[in-house]
Amino acid sequence: NAKTLKHEEFMNVAHRGASGYAPEHTFFAYDKGHYEIGADYIEVDLQMTKDGHLIALHDEKLDRTTNGTGLVKDHTLAEIKQLDAGSWFNEKYPEYANEAYVGAQVPTLDEVISRYGKNANYYIETKSPDVYPGMEEALLAVLDQHGLLKEGRLKQGHVLVQSFSNESLLKMHQLNSDVPLVQLTSKGFMSSATEATLRQIKTYADGFGPSFQDLTKENTALLKSIGFEIHPYTVNKEEDMRRLNDYGVDGVFTNYPDVYERISNEK
Ligand code: G3P
Ligand code: MG
Repeated sequence: NAKTLKHEEFMNVAHRGASGYAPEHTFFAYDKGHYEIGADYIEVDLQMTKDGHLIALHDEKLDRTTNGTGLVKDHTLAEIKQLDAGSWFNEKYPEYANEAYVGAQVPTLDEVISRYGKNANYYIETKSPDVYPGMEEALLAVLDQHGLLKEGRLKQGHVLVQSFSNESLLKMHQLNSDVPLVQLTSKGFMSSATEATLRQIKTYADGFGPSFQDLTKENTALLKSIGFEIHPYTVNKEEDMRRLNDYGVDGVFTNYPDVYERISNEK
Protein backbone atom coordinates (compact mmCIF):
# COMPACT_ATOMS: atom_id res chain seq x y z
CA ASN A 1 0.00 0.00 0.00
CA ALA A 2 0.99 3.58 -0.52
CA LYS A 3 2.50 5.73 2.18
CA THR A 4 -0.34 6.50 4.54
CA LEU A 5 -1.72 9.95 3.88
CA LYS A 6 -1.65 11.99 7.05
CA HIS A 7 -5.01 13.54 6.38
CA GLU A 8 -6.92 11.75 3.72
CA GLU A 9 -9.00 14.84 3.09
CA PHE A 10 -6.22 17.17 2.03
CA MET A 11 -3.51 15.69 -0.12
CA ASN A 12 -0.29 17.63 0.24
CA VAL A 13 1.78 17.55 -2.94
CA ALA A 14 5.32 18.94 -2.78
CA HIS A 15 5.43 20.83 -6.09
CA ARG A 16 8.79 20.08 -7.77
CA GLY A 17 9.73 18.94 -4.25
CA ALA A 18 9.56 21.52 -1.46
CA SER A 19 10.72 23.93 -4.13
CA GLY A 20 10.13 27.08 -2.09
CA TYR A 21 13.07 26.07 0.11
CA ALA A 22 15.51 24.18 -2.10
CA PRO A 23 16.32 23.91 -5.81
CA GLU A 24 13.36 22.29 -7.57
CA HIS A 25 13.67 18.70 -8.76
CA THR A 26 16.88 17.99 -6.86
CA PHE A 27 17.22 15.53 -4.00
CA PHE A 28 17.47 18.56 -1.71
CA ALA A 29 13.93 19.66 -2.58
CA TYR A 30 12.56 16.11 -2.55
CA ASP A 31 14.26 15.26 0.79
CA LYS A 32 12.85 18.41 2.31
CA GLY A 33 9.34 17.62 1.06
CA HIS A 34 9.40 13.91 1.87
CA TYR A 35 11.60 13.45 4.95
CA GLU A 36 11.46 16.81 6.70
CA ILE A 37 7.91 17.90 5.99
CA GLY A 38 6.28 14.55 5.30
CA ALA A 39 4.30 15.69 2.25
CA ASP A 40 1.98 13.03 0.85
CA TYR A 41 3.36 13.18 -2.69
CA ILE A 42 6.54 14.32 -4.42
CA GLU A 43 5.72 15.95 -7.75
CA VAL A 44 8.08 14.94 -10.57
CA ASP A 45 8.01 16.73 -13.95
CA LEU A 46 9.47 14.55 -16.69
CA GLN A 47 11.69 15.41 -19.62
CA MET A 48 13.45 12.90 -21.87
CA THR A 49 17.10 13.01 -22.89
CA LYS A 50 18.48 12.48 -26.40
CA ASP A 51 19.33 8.91 -25.42
CA GLY A 52 15.86 8.19 -24.03
CA HIS A 53 16.31 8.57 -20.25
CA LEU A 54 13.55 10.15 -18.18
CA ILE A 55 14.83 12.93 -15.96
CA ALA A 56 13.18 15.15 -13.36
CA LEU A 57 13.17 18.69 -14.71
CA HIS A 58 10.37 21.16 -15.26
CA ASP A 59 11.42 23.03 -18.38
CA GLU A 60 12.05 21.61 -21.83
CA LYS A 61 15.21 23.73 -21.80
CA LEU A 62 18.13 23.48 -19.40
CA ASP A 63 18.67 27.21 -19.09
CA ARG A 64 16.57 28.30 -16.11
CA THR A 65 17.50 25.67 -13.52
CA THR A 66 20.94 24.47 -14.60
CA ASN A 67 24.16 25.96 -15.92
CA GLY A 68 23.50 24.28 -19.27
CA THR A 69 21.74 25.70 -22.29
CA GLY A 70 19.39 24.38 -24.94
CA LEU A 71 16.82 21.64 -25.14
CA VAL A 72 16.95 18.58 -22.91
CA LYS A 73 16.13 16.39 -25.91
CA ASP A 74 19.34 17.53 -27.64
CA HIS A 75 21.51 16.35 -24.72
CA THR A 76 22.50 12.90 -23.49
CA LEU A 77 22.03 11.89 -19.89
CA ALA A 78 25.82 11.87 -19.42
CA GLU A 79 25.95 15.50 -20.54
CA ILE A 80 23.08 16.53 -18.26
CA LYS A 81 24.68 14.77 -15.31
CA GLN A 82 27.63 17.17 -15.60
CA LEU A 83 25.39 20.18 -14.99
CA ASP A 84 24.85 22.15 -11.80
CA ALA A 85 21.13 22.27 -10.98
CA GLY A 86 21.53 24.00 -7.61
CA SER A 87 23.51 27.23 -7.89
CA TRP A 88 20.78 29.22 -9.65
CA PHE A 89 18.61 28.78 -6.56
CA ASN A 90 21.20 30.36 -4.27
CA GLU A 91 21.29 33.41 -6.50
CA LYS A 92 17.54 33.73 -6.81
CA TYR A 93 16.66 32.91 -3.18
CA PRO A 94 19.54 34.15 -1.02
CA GLU A 95 17.34 33.70 2.06
CA TYR A 96 17.48 29.92 1.55
CA ALA A 97 20.94 29.75 -0.06
CA ASN A 98 22.98 26.72 0.95
CA GLU A 99 26.50 25.76 -0.16
CA ALA A 100 25.42 22.15 -0.42
CA TYR A 101 23.17 23.05 -3.35
CA VAL A 102 26.14 23.97 -5.55
CA GLY A 103 26.64 21.21 -8.10
CA ALA A 104 23.39 19.40 -7.32
CA GLN A 105 22.64 16.92 -10.10
CA VAL A 106 19.54 16.52 -12.21
CA PRO A 107 18.10 13.16 -11.06
CA THR A 108 16.65 10.52 -13.33
CA LEU A 109 13.17 9.19 -12.51
CA ASP A 110 14.81 5.86 -11.76
CA GLU A 111 17.14 7.51 -9.22
CA VAL A 112 14.23 9.32 -7.58
CA ILE A 113 12.22 6.14 -7.11
CA SER A 114 15.34 4.22 -6.02
CA ARG A 115 15.98 6.82 -3.31
CA TYR A 116 12.49 7.03 -1.79
CA GLY A 117 11.08 3.66 -2.82
CA LYS A 118 7.70 2.65 -1.56
CA ASN A 119 7.95 5.00 1.40
CA ALA A 120 6.91 7.79 -0.93
CA ASN A 121 4.15 8.56 -3.38
CA TYR A 122 4.94 10.07 -6.77
CA TYR A 123 2.83 12.57 -8.69
CA ILE A 124 4.46 12.31 -12.11
CA GLU A 125 3.87 14.76 -14.97
CA THR A 126 4.23 13.69 -18.59
CA LYS A 127 4.64 16.16 -21.44
CA SER A 128 3.17 16.09 -24.93
CA PRO A 129 3.87 13.04 -27.14
CA ASP A 130 4.62 15.58 -29.90
CA VAL A 131 7.66 16.72 -27.95
CA TYR A 132 8.63 13.35 -26.49
CA PRO A 133 7.40 10.37 -28.52
CA GLY A 134 7.71 7.26 -26.34
CA MET A 135 7.66 9.03 -22.97
CA GLU A 136 4.62 7.07 -21.76
CA GLU A 137 6.17 3.70 -22.64
CA ALA A 138 9.43 4.73 -20.97
CA LEU A 139 7.55 5.81 -17.84
CA LEU A 140 5.63 2.56 -17.60
CA ALA A 141 8.89 0.63 -17.98
CA VAL A 142 10.49 2.49 -15.04
CA LEU A 143 7.40 2.06 -12.88
CA ASP A 144 7.29 -1.64 -13.73
CA GLN A 145 10.97 -2.10 -12.82
CA HIS A 146 10.18 -0.66 -9.40
CA GLY A 147 7.03 -2.73 -8.91
CA LEU A 148 4.83 0.34 -8.88
CA LEU A 149 2.20 -0.76 -11.38
CA LYS A 150 -1.12 -2.33 -10.43
CA GLU A 151 -1.07 -0.57 -7.09
CA GLY A 152 -4.67 0.58 -7.07
CA ARG A 153 -6.64 3.71 -7.70
CA LEU A 154 -6.21 7.27 -6.53
CA LYS A 155 -5.15 7.62 -2.88
CA GLN A 156 -4.40 3.90 -2.66
CA GLY A 157 -1.46 3.66 -5.01
CA HIS A 158 2.03 5.07 -5.07
CA VAL A 159 1.79 6.74 -8.43
CA LEU A 160 -0.44 9.29 -10.11
CA VAL A 161 0.23 10.49 -13.63
CA GLN A 162 -0.77 14.01 -14.57
CA SER A 163 -0.45 15.95 -17.81
CA PHE A 164 -1.61 19.08 -19.55
CA SER A 165 -1.57 16.91 -22.69
CA ASN A 166 -4.78 14.94 -23.04
CA GLU A 167 -3.03 12.97 -25.81
CA SER A 168 -0.45 11.81 -23.31
CA LEU A 169 -3.11 10.81 -20.79
CA LEU A 170 -5.15 8.96 -23.43
CA LYS A 171 -2.01 7.10 -24.41
CA MET A 172 -1.30 6.18 -20.79
CA HIS A 173 -4.92 5.05 -20.44
CA GLN A 174 -4.58 2.82 -23.50
CA LEU A 175 -1.25 1.37 -22.41
CA ASN A 176 -2.21 0.68 -18.81
CA SER A 177 -5.62 1.55 -17.45
CA ASP A 178 -4.55 0.79 -13.85
CA VAL A 179 -2.58 3.99 -13.39
CA PRO A 180 -4.73 6.82 -12.03
CA LEU A 181 -4.62 9.89 -14.26
CA VAL A 182 -5.10 13.58 -13.58
CA GLN A 183 -5.92 16.09 -16.32
CA LEU A 184 -4.14 19.39 -15.80
CA THR A 185 -5.69 22.48 -17.36
CA SER A 186 -4.20 25.90 -17.99
CA LYS A 187 -5.29 29.06 -16.27
CA GLY A 188 -8.56 30.29 -17.82
CA PHE A 189 -9.74 26.83 -18.88
CA MET A 190 -12.67 26.80 -16.46
CA SER A 191 -14.14 30.02 -17.81
CA SER A 192 -15.03 28.34 -21.10
CA ALA A 193 -15.29 24.65 -20.13
CA THR A 194 -18.73 23.13 -20.52
CA GLU A 195 -20.04 20.37 -18.30
CA ALA A 196 -19.93 18.07 -21.35
CA THR A 197 -16.20 18.78 -21.77
CA LEU A 198 -15.55 18.04 -18.12
CA ARG A 199 -17.55 14.80 -18.29
CA GLN A 200 -15.55 13.76 -21.35
CA ILE A 201 -12.32 14.26 -19.40
CA LYS A 202 -13.75 12.09 -16.63
CA THR A 203 -13.93 9.15 -19.06
CA TYR A 204 -10.15 8.72 -18.73
CA ALA A 205 -9.07 10.87 -15.76
CA ASP A 206 -9.81 10.27 -12.08
CA GLY A 207 -8.55 13.67 -11.11
CA PHE A 208 -8.61 17.25 -12.29
CA GLY A 209 -5.73 19.67 -11.80
CA PRO A 210 -6.76 23.26 -12.55
CA SER A 211 -4.91 26.46 -11.90
CA PHE A 212 -6.09 27.39 -8.42
CA GLN A 213 -7.09 30.81 -9.75
CA ASP A 214 -9.75 29.13 -11.89
CA LEU A 215 -11.64 27.60 -8.97
CA THR A 216 -14.79 29.05 -7.45
CA LYS A 217 -17.05 27.49 -4.87
CA GLU A 218 -19.55 26.75 -7.66
CA ASN A 219 -17.25 25.15 -10.21
CA THR A 220 -15.51 23.14 -7.47
CA ALA A 221 -18.93 21.73 -6.55
CA LEU A 222 -19.59 20.91 -10.22
CA LEU A 223 -16.24 19.13 -10.57
CA LYS A 224 -16.94 17.14 -7.41
CA SER A 225 -20.44 16.21 -8.63
CA ILE A 226 -18.85 14.79 -11.80
CA GLY A 227 -16.70 12.65 -9.53
CA PHE A 228 -13.27 14.23 -9.87
CA GLU A 229 -10.63 14.42 -7.22
CA ILE A 230 -9.54 18.06 -7.41
CA HIS A 231 -5.90 19.06 -6.97
CA PRO A 232 -5.28 22.71 -7.91
CA TYR A 233 -1.79 24.07 -8.57
CA THR A 234 0.25 25.97 -7.35
CA VAL A 235 -1.04 27.22 -4.03
CA ASN A 236 1.54 29.04 -1.96
CA LYS A 237 -0.42 31.52 0.15
CA GLU A 238 -2.16 30.58 3.38
CA GLU A 239 -5.36 32.44 2.57
CA ASP A 240 -5.69 30.61 -0.76
CA MET A 241 -5.05 27.25 0.94
CA ARG A 242 -7.81 27.93 3.47
CA ARG A 243 -10.25 29.12 0.82
CA LEU A 244 -9.64 26.11 -1.43
CA ASN A 245 -9.97 23.67 1.46
CA ASP A 246 -13.29 25.36 2.29
CA TYR A 247 -14.43 24.88 -1.32
CA GLY A 248 -13.74 21.17 -0.87
CA VAL A 249 -10.64 20.46 -2.95
CA ASP A 250 -8.90 17.15 -2.24
CA GLY A 251 -5.42 18.60 -1.93
CA VAL A 252 -3.05 21.10 -3.49
CA PHE A 253 0.30 21.38 -5.19
CA THR A 254 2.45 23.74 -3.18
CA ASN A 255 6.05 24.90 -3.01
CA TYR A 256 5.53 25.16 0.78
CA PRO A 257 4.07 21.84 1.91
CA ASP A 258 4.83 22.68 5.54
CA VAL A 259 2.40 25.59 5.32
CA TYR A 260 -0.34 23.45 3.76
CA GLU A 261 0.29 20.82 6.43
CA ARG A 262 -0.40 23.43 9.10
CA ILE A 263 -3.44 24.90 7.36
CA SER A 264 -4.98 21.48 6.79
CA ASN A 265 -4.61 20.55 10.45
CA GLU A 266 -6.41 23.69 11.65
CA LYS A 267 -9.87 23.45 13.27
O1 G3P B 1 0.81 19.67 -11.63
C1 G3P B 1 0.77 20.89 -11.10
C2 G3P B 1 1.81 21.72 -11.71
O2 G3P B 1 2.99 20.99 -11.70
C3 G3P B 1 1.47 22.13 -13.10
O3 G3P B 1 2.23 23.17 -13.48
O4 G3P B 1 4.03 24.07 -14.80
O5 G3P B 1 4.41 23.59 -12.42
O6 G3P B 1 4.24 21.75 -14.03
P1 G3P B 1 3.80 23.13 -13.69
MG1 MG C 1 4.37 19.96 -12.87
